[in-house]
Amino acid sequence: MESTFGIVFKGYPYFKEKFEKENKDIIKTRLLFKKTLVLRGVEAAEIFYDQSKFQRKGATPKRFQKTLFGEGGVQGTDGEAHRKRKHMFMQFMGKEAVDRIKENFLQLWQNQLPEWMDAEELVLFDQVEKILCMAACNWAGVPLKEGEEKLRSKQLSRIIRSAGAVGVDHYRGRIARKKAEKWIIGFVKEIRSKKQVPGENSSILETFSLFRDEKGKLLPEKIVAVEVLNILRPIVAIARYITFSALALHEHPQYKKRLKADEGLDLLFVHEVRRYYPFFPFVAAQVKEDFEWKDEKFPKGTRVLLDIYATNHDKRTWVNPAAFYAERFKDWEGSAYNFIPQGGGDHHQNHRCAGEWITIQITCAAVNFLVKEIDYDVPEQDLKISMNRIPATPKSRFKIFNVRRSK
Ligand code: HEM
Repeated sequence: MESTFGIVFKGYPYFKEKFEKENKDIIKTRLLFKKTLVLRGVEAAEIFYDQSKFQRKGATPKRFQKTLFGEGGVQGTDGEAHRKRKHMFMQFMGKEAVDRIKENFLQLWQNQLPEWMDAEELVLFDQVEKILCMAACNWAGVPLKEGEEKLRSKQLSRIIRSAGAVGVDHYRGRIARKKAEKWIIGFVKEIRSKKQVPGENSSILETFSLFRDEKGKLLPEKIVAVEVLNILRPIVAIARYITFSALALHEHPQYKKRLKADEGLDLLFVHEVRRYYPFFPFVAAQVKEDFEWKDEKFPKGTRVLLDIYATNHDKRTWVNPAAFYAERFKDWEGSAYNFIPQGGGDHHQNHRCAGEWITIQITCAAVNFLVKEIDYDVPEQDLKISMNRIPATPKSRFKIFNVRRSK
């Protein structure tokens, strides 16, 4: 059965409801007219991240490469090519580097505060995207001209929004990607013309521009741009988790007091935000060699999706998954497979999100900022999350007013 329309109409919970109704972990379907197996749950995630069974090459449909991911990036590599390319990212994900972007993000937010305090009303999501765009560019060594952050954050935002879009929004996403890649390619050419070698103090932009693959070759300029955007774009995307955090604080105000008093609660709260709210719906792979699992045949070349939303809302793992309850993470044993908002397995060996620690740290910093640094009022607005809008946000993108410094 073709499920494309089901996803368009129902969105995130479409397969989750089917899994529950059929009491199964595997659904056989067709997506974009291609035979597809959709999986959920902790056991499925363990299988999905077994690289002897699955590869990423050829797994992502072209329409997502033309918009969200770009063509030729780390997401579609396997084996040695992946390990080498992933290391290019992971060398920038240590504690010191993560602290650097977090501190810069907080400083930039502080700098914006006087404007926020003067504003009659503002949209949290849009403002935070802009701050994150500046922090991402500073961190990656991508120069931004005075005032350029508006244009670039809009471009990156459009690329993110185009992920699940059809029609005009999809094409707007393609155009935004082309423009953003052209912008980065200009810097790559400049760096390469200086004939420098990458060193310990090289920025992300320089390191990526001068990176040599497993065959000792420089990457094509366009692929460097795709990889630099694989840093900038998802940092801007953290605005979704920050907005969902603000929404959770608004809908569960008891957490404001508790977060002020309990130092360790922020991490649990941010985990729950990442579990509860919808963001990335699936990850895709392709069967490498025929195998069988749970009485189902997985023929070579079949597309397989791991359903992130259904796994993070799996009743067998999460008690009352439809409730927002940060304290549930006190007892979480840290499994790499049952809580997978940013993929599963190992960050270095598998395709698990390179920026997960940055995401957690920045979202925690933002939650503390919202709770401890400022007070604000929330006007009447439509905060509903349309589950068939991928990626999701509250409809009004969270308006606030009367922003003041906390006493
Ligand atoms: C991969 C989610 C933030 C960089 C992924 C994957 C997911 C994901 C689901 C795919 C995992 C897989 O294929 O198994 C998210 C979410 C984010 C986020 C929800 C929140 C905003 C970030 C940040 C960065 C980043 C901040 C970089 C600074 C990457 C890269 C990959 C990736 C480079 C590809 C890794 C690979 O293929 O080996 N992310 N991510 N992401 N993410 Fe993130």
